[in-house]
Amino acid sequence: MVYVTKGIEFSATHRLFNPEFDDAKNDRVFGKCNNRNGHGHNYRLEVTVKGAPDPATGMTFDLSELRKILEEVVQARFDHKNLNLDVAEMKGMVPTAENIARVIWKLLEQRLSGKLDRIRLFETQNNIVEYRGEG
Ligand code: NI
Repeated sequence: MVYVTKGIEFSATHRLFNPEFDDAKNDRVFGKCNNRNGHGHNYRLEVTVKGAPDPATGMTFDLSELRKILEEVVQARFDHKNLNLDVAEMKGMVPTAENIARVIWKLLEQRLSGKLDRIRLFETQNNIVEYRGEG
């Protein structure tokens, strides 16, 4: 089994708040991430696929094919978008990195079934979420 990772970037804006909380509670829970007019991040996503390399090609997964899938599934949907408003799959969710990672996992799994091992979403250099499809 060989694990191969591909990275991709996208930029998006969001505001972290729960409409069921009042303003004071949203400020308390989410702090400056609850800024009313939003704030942006340059996200980096790393997607790891697993498998035995094909004996004929030596490849676990064709990386140009993987890049195409990430462009279609992730960049087309998330890049230069407002994560509170523009992404149908995020509706009703607080757009934290945790929830973004879960949505991306679900979408990628449909294209990479059985080969997807883990994803890591860097919201900043210091805030990184990892998801492996459990829970
Ligand atoms: Ni943020």
